[in-house]
This record gives sequence, C-alpha cells and structure tokens, in this order.
Amino acid sequence: MYYYLLIFHSLFRWLVLSSLLLAIFKAYTGYFQNRPFTKSDNAIRHWTATIAHIQLIIGIILYIKSPVTQGFWSNFGKSIKNMDMAFFGLYHFLLMIFSVILATIGSALAKRKPTDKEKFKTMLIWFGLTLFIIFIAIPWSFSPLANRPYFRSF
Ligand code: HEM
Repeated sequence: MYYYLLIFHSLFRWLVLSSLLLAIFKAYTGYFQNRPFTKSDNAIRHWTATIAHIQLIIGIILYIKSPVTQGFWSNFGKSIKNMDMAFFGLYHFLLMIFSVILATIGSALAKRKPTDKEKFKTMLIWFGLTLFIIFIAIPWSFSPLANRPYFRSF
C-alpha cells in the first residue's frame, strides 16, 4: 500500500500544480482585462482548493505509512542532521500544510469578496503564494533540498 500511495502522491502533484497554474492564469487575465467572474472561474477556484485538500489527505496517510518518516521519528537526533530525512520528516510536510492553509484562506476570501475584480485579485495573490511555497517544497530532481523522480513507475 505504501508504494502505491507514493506513486499516487507523486502523480497527483501534477494535478495540484496545473490547477494552481490555471487558477492563477484565470485570475490574472480576469483582473487585468476586467472580465466578469463567471461560474467557470468560481468552479476553478473551488476545485483548485479541493485538489490541494485531496493531496493533503494523501500526504498525511503517506506520512503515517512511510518508512522514511518513521525512521526520522525513531531516531530524531541523527535524522535531523540528514537532509533527505529531515526534508520528508519535517520541512516538506510543514511547508505543504502551510501552503494548503493559504489556498484554503484564499479560496474562502475570494468567494466572499463583493466585486469581481476583488475576487480575481484575492485569487491571484493567495494562489500565487501557495504555488510559490509548493514549488519550493517539492523534491524536484534539481532541488538542493531533496530529490525524487518526476514520475514513478509501478
Ligand atoms: C499539497 C501539496 C503536496 C505536494 C505537491 C506533494 C508532493 C510530493 C512529491 C512530489 C513527493 C515525492 C514522491 C516520490 O518519492 O516520488 C512527496 C513525498 C512525500 N510527501 Fe508530499 N506533497 C504534498 C503534501 C504533503 C503533505 C501535506 C504531507 C504530509 C502531511 C506529505 C507527505 C509526504 C511524504 C511523507 C513523502 C515521502 C514519502 C517517502 O519517501 O516515503 N506531502 N510529496
């Protein structure tokens, strides 16, 4: 089960990133072109936050099952000095939880804004910050923090 979760979590990152990029693009063009905030914009706002929540839940289950994080907590003193273990045991999950909180706040605030322009602006700022943090906290193969493949195979 652990490995299937890992594959799914790894793959799901692309959906998290694409939904955020689409939402940011829509918010940007909507704001600068003074477009009306349509039903489709609202659905994108909603689904972007929901997709991030789903990844959060997969991440939490993975965190409980992972031998990497189990090893991290069973020998904290040594593991905290090992970047790969500290990354998954601490930094990845803290940054990702923070980013999902930002996406949730941004989505909720945008929903409640009275004008279309304010809705787009709120989405742009909060989802932009979310994307920035998620991007840093992903173990890209070029990341100085921890490296994992772009795609995992069965
Ligand atoms: C919300 C956005 C998140 C994204 C985009 C994301 C992305 C990733 C990626 C790309 C990996 C590497 C997978 C691989 O090894 O192929 C990974 C690993 C991992 N993630 Fe996340 N993650 C997110 C949130 C979380 C959260 C909130 C948690 C925990 C609460 C978490 C826990 C983990 C763990 C434990 C691993 C490594 C497991 C292992 O190697 O045994 N992730 N994540």
